[in-house]
Amino acid sequence: MEPAPDSPILLFDSGLGGLSVLAELRRELPDAPIIYAADIAGLPYGEKTEAEIAARVAGLLGRMSERFGPRLICIACNTASTIALGMVRNVLHVPIVGTVPAIKPAAAVTQTGTIGLLGTAATIRQAYVDDLEARFAADNRLIRYAAPGLVGAAETKLRGGRPDDAVFADAIAGLRRQPDGENIDTVVLACTHFPLVEEELRAAIGPEVTFIHGAEGIARRIASLTLGQQFQRNGPDRAIATGEIDSALVNTLAQYGLENVAQF
Ligand code: DGL
Repeated sequence: MEPAPDSPILLFDSGLGGLSVLAELRRELPDAPIIYAADIAGLPYGEKTEAEIAARVAGLLGRMSERFGPRLICIACNTASTIALGMVRNVLHVPIVGTVPAIKPAAAVTQTGTIGLLGTAATIRQAYVDDLEARFAADNRLIRYAAPGLVGAAETKLRGGRPDDAVFADAIAGLRRQPDGENIDTVVLACTHFPLVEEELRAAIGPEVTFIHGAEGIARRIASLTLGQQFQRNGPDRAIATGEIDSALVNTLAQYGLENVAQF
């Protein structure tokens, strides 16, 4: 059955990282009604256990599906996707698009064969990432580094604050100081928060390294899964958030066209 024209696409993240996906999605599907969901009360996911993340994500997405009847859910969070994608797909009868580390496209562009991967602590230890590495980067060297400080830095920047430059330098140094780290020519930004601080990471790593993230590919995937469907917006796009909604959050969301913010 075709979804109702005003049935939204629900984009879910632990915080503001999914806005990097929202920007690309709007380019692909300018007329699609979107609800942006931020689990601010659960942020950061990267420091939680697998069981905590899976329970939280499945519970919230179940309740959000019932409330908003989305036509599709995008888990715009690498941490939640690499842990809970399979489980959420098993329990919800809605198409679910995940966000997983862009190792395949990175393997296609690296010249040195040495790829860096920045993610949260929870993401970089996932079997899902081992599997992507084995399938798409077996002939390359993949150097992983957990950079949880970048999540807070992106949140600070988006809310109008000034993150500490040392966080960016530390993330890059964490890759470079590992064996072969000096040969890295491509870095996978394996957390949706990280493209939001790409400029700062670029300043820390220099011009010669290519950054790869999945946002464009995810937006294209959502467009192909909703091809031929009708879209109708009954007002500006909405955001929902767990936890406290302060004025900095409201202002940031408004800059992304999310003018109606409610607690969930
Ligand atoms: N944005 C999330 C991701 O893509 C992680 C942020 C967090 O630690 O909550 O992994």
